[in-house]
Amino acid sequence: MCGIVGYIGSKDIETVLLVGLERLSYRGYDSAGIATIFKGELSSWKKPGKLHVLSSHLKNLTVKGTSGIGHTRWATHGEANEVNAHPHVSQRKKIAIVHNGIIENFLDIKKKLEREGHIFRSQTDTEVIVHLIERYYQDNLEEAVEKAVLDLKGTYAIAVITEKEPEKMVVTRKGSPLILGIGKDENYISSDINAIIPHTKDVIYLDDNEIGIIKRDSYQIKNKNGVIVTKDIEHITWDSEAVEKSGYDHFMLKEITEQPAVIRTIISKYVNEKGQIQFKDIRMPNSDLAEINRLIIQACGTSWHAGLIGKFLVEQTSRVLTEVDISSEFRYKQMISQGKEIVAAISQSGETADTIACIREAKSKFFKILSFVNVKGSTIDRESDGVIYSHSGREIGVASTKNFLAQLTTMYLFSIYFAQLRWMISEEKAAEMVAELKKVPEYIETILTKDAEIEKIAEKYHKSREFIFVGRGINFPSALEGALKLKEISYIHATGYPAGELKHGPIALIDDKLPVVCIATQSATYEKMVSNIQEIKARKGKIIVIATEGDESIKEVADDIIYVPNVSEELSPLLVAVPLQMLAYHIAVKLDCDVDQPRNLAKSVTVE
Ligand code: G6P
Repeated sequence: MCGIVGYIGSKDIETVLLVGLERLSYRGYDSAGIATIFKGELSSWKKPGKLHVLSSHLKNLTVKGTSGIGHTRWATHGEANEVNAHPHVSQRKKIAIVHNGIIENFLDIKKKLEREGHIFRSQTDTEVIVHLIERYYQDNLEEAVEKAVLDLKGTYAIAVITEKEPEKMVVTRKGSPLILGIGKDENYISSDINAIIPHTKDVIYLDDNEIGIIKRDSYQIKNKNGVIVTKDIEHITWDSEAVEKSGYDHFMLKEITEQPAVIRTIISKYVNEKGQIQFKDIRMPNSDLAEINRLIIQACGTSWHAGLIGKFLVEQTSRVLTEVDISSEFRYKQMISQGKEIVAAISQSGETADTIACIREAKSKFFKILSFVNVKGSTIDRESDGVIYSHSGREIGVASTKNFLAQLTTMYLFSIYFAQLRWMISEEKAAEMVAELKKVPEYIETILTKDAEIEKIAEKYHKSREFIFVGRGINFPSALEGALKLKEISYIHATGYPAGELKHGPIALIDDKLPVVCIATQSATYEKMVSNIQEIKARKGKIIVIATEGDESIKEVADDIIYVPNVSEELSPLLVAVPLQMLAYHIAVKLDCDVDQPRNLAKSVTVE
């Protein structure tokens, strides 16, 4: 989704801004632009399409500046064209702004300003902010920004520059992330650390309603009452190499391959030498967890699928009722408390707007929040009572892969830990479950060697315009995730179903052309699953099966089989996910799709 970068200093401004935007591009966008101030004059350039369109446009021009802002836009209000791209400039073209988020009352403000004679150029909500700032501007940019944001309803992270005060940049946020990058005789701002990490690892996270006044050699942060606040500078420990493709054709492929290492990292973080689980940084006392009688999981996208599998794990091991909701739905439901419960938010980015809105709503109703988050320091991390980090490293591919497995792994460990706190499983059983998890990285490495085999299956079916994925029990969410992966990156319509439900509707779709991916690993419902596959076969559907190694009988019904090692049902989703990711990947590559940045999608969805 939209990305912001800004710089004050003496480096080549065009390079700093364009490289910063390139490093934000993984988030998904459809236009880009920059604005700079040079010798007291504001200039801006913007173009629809990918960044190379903007950079080739700039090639024949001279872009200079001692301060500048840049933006990648993911269209919400108004199509992705040059006029709607950011930065937006004020009526008299003295002030420029970039904005992430949505201004909900922009139409009211726009009408009011139009009555006062303001002329708008774009269809965006953002443009009203820069007009408001101009309206309030007397001789001090931060004062004008402070007044303007009081009129806004919605979410925003904004960065503003004006040629009247060329030595400063003003930033503020509410509901959308914004960080300051502290340098020597230079400073940066961004919506994402990725954009500035080649330059500095010292960052300050701005909180909602704070205003930052950034100069080349200093910065000041004021809270909403205008009082100057001192904030800790945090040092980032990962480096920019984590976001390089390292010889792989796509980030997605690199991230699929990294999955065994991710699981090993999680085990090393949360399992001690004695094989016991310890969530050292959980920030939540065991007593809070031990007493609950309901766990309420909420998440979006792939994280929601991890939540559905998490429900199965928690209910299986601890027998605690677990509900799972999509954040954008959960938020508007009655939050009924029935005693002691905890809301668990699952999020890779920790910045998904719907998930954030849910935890805020739940907190206002006095629910405690435990989050499963990958990005440390993200909004969800900071606003939760407790946290379990996913430790999957930076995930760049828009379609989540390694973080999904990290979420499943942390959920698996949490379910054991939680069951132990409630005296529901013995130490021996817990140790046995942990020991089995330790074998999973190696099992995944075996699956990764089947790449050529999976590519052949992709070759056979990549021209199909629709797919069905079916599974049962803990692997019904795996079917949902398999279908999501495929549609996200290949634009093929795919739907996931519980296999037993096929006969209540979707079976009508089956003919001799439709590929049906059936998850039939060893489980309590294996026999039932085989009967469902027979129903598909009887209607001549093309059957691709994910089966357990050694299952010979499945050959009788399958057109194609991908075998995975034999593990307990609880761990099977970790293995099943991998061939499904690889199948989606190869199909998308064969269709020449933009695997890492699929159209219309964003890595981090910061609007509700
Ligand atoms: C977007 C991404 C998905 C992700 C979802 C939830 O839609 O494209 O890959 O699963 O957001 O994101 P989160 O960061 O909260 O896990």
